[in-house]
Amino acid sequence: MSAALAELFHKGKGDEGANIDIFVHKGEQQQMARDSKLVAIYSLKGGVGKTTLSVNLAAESALRRGKKTLLWDLDPQSAASFILGHEPEKKARARSVFERDVSPDKLVQKTAVPGLDLLPADISLRGLDGLLASLGKKKRLAKLVESISDQYDRIFLDCPPGLTETSEQMMRAADIIIVPVIPSPLSQRALDDVVAHLKEYHKGHAPLLPVFSMVDRRRNLHVTAMSANPDWPRIPMASAVEQMAVHRSPVGVFAHRSPAGEAFHMLSGAIERKLSKVKD
Ligand SMILES: Nc1ncnc2c1ncn2[C@@H]1O[C@H](COP(=O)(O)OP(=O)(O)OP(=O)(O)O)[C@@H](O)[C@H]1O
Ligand SMILES: [Mg+2]
Repeated sequence: MSAALAELFHKGKGDEGANIDIFVHKGEQQQMARDSKLVAIYSLKGGVGKTTLSVNLAAESALRRGKKTLLWDLDPQSAASFILGHEPEKKARARSVFERDVSPDKLVQKTAVPGLDLLPADISLRGLDGLLASLGKKKRLAKLVESISDQYDRIFLDCPPGLTETSEQMMRAADIIIVPVIPSPLSQRALDDVVAHLKEYHKGHAPLLPVFSMVDRRRNLHVTAMSANPDWPRIPMASAVEQMAVHRSPVGVFAHRSPAGEAFHMLSGAIERKLSKVKD
């Protein structure tokens, strides 16, 4: 573990490995009736399990924790939207909430998962970074989230990879940032880069919770990487996860007792415990 990461994590020992700098930056939201929280799933790296975590954690929140939940898909690949049964519309409109002040709730759809709504992505989000940068409004995403937060207990953001204007805005808005890490040196480096960035540019940022993703205990590399951080939550490599795109459902709907289903449930509990300590 890098020195920066060790310092961040040391503060949260004994709490599922979650580290922790708690930041008070959402004063306006204190007044809300709901204790609405924004959970961002983010990594610098592509293909590490962000969408998988987003869909399953949002489903856990709605199905098994009774939270009114929204999954906001910010990735133009729209994989989360696909898994949750969304069919692309003729006109790609996802960008309009950022560009033309269309209220996010105009685009929100119900899903087949009770209590879970979806704000779908589409190809129009492809140039979102450029658009956000050109708008010059650093808290555009935070304000949009705030505009619908009285309708939800939990809002999950499935973020695209990369260190971009979209991720900058996410870092300003999030109450907690979940970072999937495949147990390997490269993924670990990507996490270290995120930590370094947060420390330098987002003083007092939201707590960060790394999660080992796609864990395969038969691989020495995975076992070694995990031994360095034995208290981080783990999601096993599992066929149930691959089946999500076939069933077009979260694991919790068709295999909640599988090892992956149990792991998502436990992680969802760890996030709730962490959020209960995050001040508004
Ligand atoms: N625990 C797991 N077990 C098996 N397959 C998994 C697991 N987690 C993710 N995958 C598979 O790995 C691939 C990448 O996962 P996912 O789409 O969640 O990553 P991502 O970080 O969102 O990718 P991107 O950066 O492209 O958005 C997918 O095909 C997914 O089904
Ligand atoms: Mg994804």
